Amino acid sequence: MPDRNDLSRYRLSFHIAPEHGWLNDPNGLCQFRGQYHAFYQYNPLWPQKDTKHWRHVVSADLVHWHDEGTALVTDIPEDRSGVYSGSALIVPCAASDGGDLMCLYYTGNVVYPGGKEAGYDYVHTGREANEILVTTEDGQTYSEKRVLLRNDDYPDVCTQHVRDPKVWEQAGAAYMLLGARNLDDVGFCLLYESADGIEWRLRSQIRSREKLGYMWECPNIVQLGGHDFLAICPQGLEEQELCWQNKNQAGYIPLTESVLDATVVDGDAFVEWDHGYDFYAPQVFVDDAGRQILIGWMGSFGDPWTAAPRGLDWCHCLTVPRELTIGADGLLRQLPVAEYDALRKECVELAPGVAHSCADHRLDIVHAGIKGEGCLTLDGALELACADGKLSVRFLDEEVTAGRPARSVLLDSLKDLRILVDTSAVEIYANGGSTVFSTRWFPTAEQLSVRHTFDVSQAEAYLLEDALENVFA
Ligand code: FRU
Repeated sequence: MPDRNDLSRYRLSFHIAPEHGWLNDPNGLCQFRGQYHAFYQYNPLWPQKDTKHWRHVVSADLVHWHDEGTALVTDIPEDRSGVYSGSALIVPCAASDGGDLMCLYYTGNVVYPGGKEAGYDYVHTGREANEILVTTEDGQTYSEKRVLLRNDDYPDVCTQHVRDPKVWEQAGAAYMLLGARNLDDVGFCLLYESADGIEWRLRSQIRSREKLGYMWECPNIVQLGGHDFLAICPQGLEEQELCWQNKNQAGYIPLTESVLDATVVDGDAFVEWDHGYDFYAPQVFVDDAGRQILIGWMGSFGDPWTAAPRGLDWCHCLTVPRELTIGADGLLRQLPVAEYDALRKECVELAPGVAHSCADHRLDIVHAGIKGEGCLTLDGALELACADGKLSVRFLDEEVTAGRPARSVLLDSLKDLRILVDTSAVEIYANGGSTVFSTRWFPTAEQLSVRHTFDVSQAEAYLLEDALENVFA
């Protein structure tokens, strides 16, 4: 048996995670001067409560990442309680050397001390949400911060919860979506417009016809095949039997018009990105090849969803980058970007009913041409089953992951599967990425073992290289 106290075996090989401390939302995703950049919400002092900073990683290929340290810290009064989430806008030829300029827009969070005793409810009083711009020409040194919008600038219907700017360029103008909570406790978005990325004018408010949660966090826009999809993270949706089972939810609404013209959208059309257990606050960016790429926070707020065993001094990771496409049903598909195929080493056939083992706990499992029902288990502890018109994920061993009830989604038939196993992270993509589950787990077995019972035309698993061996070097 491996040493149960040796927690280094949970270190990830191709999912971005902090060396120490806490990670949440991906921020500022972009491709800039040839390199991919990702930032994330970072609390270095976790499990102590602390303000959030932006940690920074870069990559030439979306697979091998290098940690660049903490990029943005709380150092002005307007962000003194946290450098909260935000996004990147790359402005061509705007830097002093004639090259591209990276513009990072984020929310400076301010929480007044004193608590409820001081009369603050921290919804209508006691907070500030400041939208701030900081730029970089080289991805290493940053300009002074510039406050662009404050609570007084938002429309009167807003509470003090307004945050997470998503900024993009469209037809020569810049647009900014902000997530917000209104005075009636209804989540909605503000859409701002700007000619120069500095002066912003409110263009519209976007809400759903029926209330969909009390607050929308981390809004995003996906523009594919002439269609716009509004991505939002509603807080306060009541858990249903087959959906909305995380603490807060993350999904998108296919729009029937351009986001620039939308004011009332169809909340009933809200589609969850991922059925969990660990998924929230995804961000989408467009790379130089025009791909729409999504990276999510592979984690969630609230127990037992933090899922870190005692003694592990880092918490949570990001999903692998996923390319988005549209399916024939008009909904979005997500699959790991093709670059991940480069990690594949030798391939093992997975005969049904036989347990296959892998010493380094990393596998890329591919099933194609699945007929009928069946199941696949990892270590006999995490089961994926297709039966009775449902696809379900279930933990069979409390020791591996405690406190997670089974999750199911309706699925007429399962045709294919792709499963990425990376020590303590598992991403499951079914039917070309139309149904996705992402979960952490903390296996105790010495070897990773896979066993399936599917009638399938192709079932194989690739051993994988460690892409992050030098991430902190
Ligand atoms: C979403 C979120 C954002 C906020 C950030 C703070 O997970 O709550 O709304 O900007 O996390 O870390």
